[in-house]
Amino acid sequence: MTARETGRSVRAFAPATVANLGSGFDVLGLALMGAGDTVTARLVAAPGVRIARVSGDGGRLPTDAARNTAGIAATHTLRRAGMDAGIELEIAKGLPLGSGLGSSAASAAAAAWAVNVLLGSPLRRAELIAPCVEAEAAVSGRHADNVAPALLGGLVLVRSMDPTDIVRLPVPEGLTVAVVTPVHEVSTREARAVLPASVPLAQFVRSTANLAAFVSACFSGDLALLARAMEDDVVTPARAQLIPGCREVIAAALAAGALGSSISGSGPTVFALCRSERSATDAAAAMCAAFQRAGLESSAMLSPADCPGAREA
Ligand code: HSE
Repeated sequence: MTARETGRSVRAFAPATVANLGSGFDVLGLALMGAGDTVTARLVAAPGVRIARVSGDGGRLPTDAARNTAGIAATHTLRRAGMDAGIELEIAKGLPLGSGLGSSAASAAAAAWAVNVLLGSPLRRAELIAPCVEAEAAVSGRHADNVAPALLGGLVLVRSMDPTDIVRLPVPEGLTVAVVTPVHEVSTREARAVLPASVPLAQFVRSTANLAAFVSACFSGDLALLARAMEDDVVTPARAQLIPGCREVIAAALAAGALGSSISGSGPTVFALCRSERSATDAAAAMCAAFQRAGLESSAMLSPADCPGAREA
């Protein structure tokens, strides 16, 4: 890096994501419109990654780069690119922590994207997934179903993390996501701790069948099949106990006409896949009312199911 380059900066945005689409635990995820995190990466003289500022987190996130997903993703991006530049990060959180909207992944993806562009884009978009998985692994668990859609956009299937093998799935026309976030927090670590360590063979068979049917429905556009394929009797029931009113919120979405509904990522956000924006509006209203009955205020957001991933902001 020359002295002239010091001070140059790139600002990147990465969106919120819904992971685990009913079926497809740790395997399916999609990018949302609107909400997300913004990270500015600046070249500085001293090698290594430092976090200069975090805003929008209420002072709760670590500013130690080794313990913050943006810092970890930036460090691994540098390492993977084989460069030892000095990078200073500014993180503007747009996503609530512990909400199930892929907050840690959005920070990691925005940081990896910004650092890569700052370095002259030595890595391809998909090559940024591994550095972001390292970041997720350090704070909550090794999974790529938030970072992959946060980086690539759209609806993706994580076939493998090592080596990275991500499959982009077609999104049936008009498919809309209703996302309802209650005022309640669940940490991903805690939500992973309540999962069974092993599942009986019969449940494994049902999960495999549902995931295969979900993928088939994405290609064929058969929304009735998509709806049936979102059933999950492994992860959702285990986690519902962490979210007041969870079962009732999911039931309310289905009663209002949603194709399927489940916990977004590790929760407490609950999402519903709907055939149209109008149907998603009805589902969101019913879900908010159900959270209210359970004693929780909530906020709703609607998004197309096929949205762009990380980009310069
Ligand atoms: N697949 C991960 C989990 C996503 O459910 O634990 C976390 O956002």
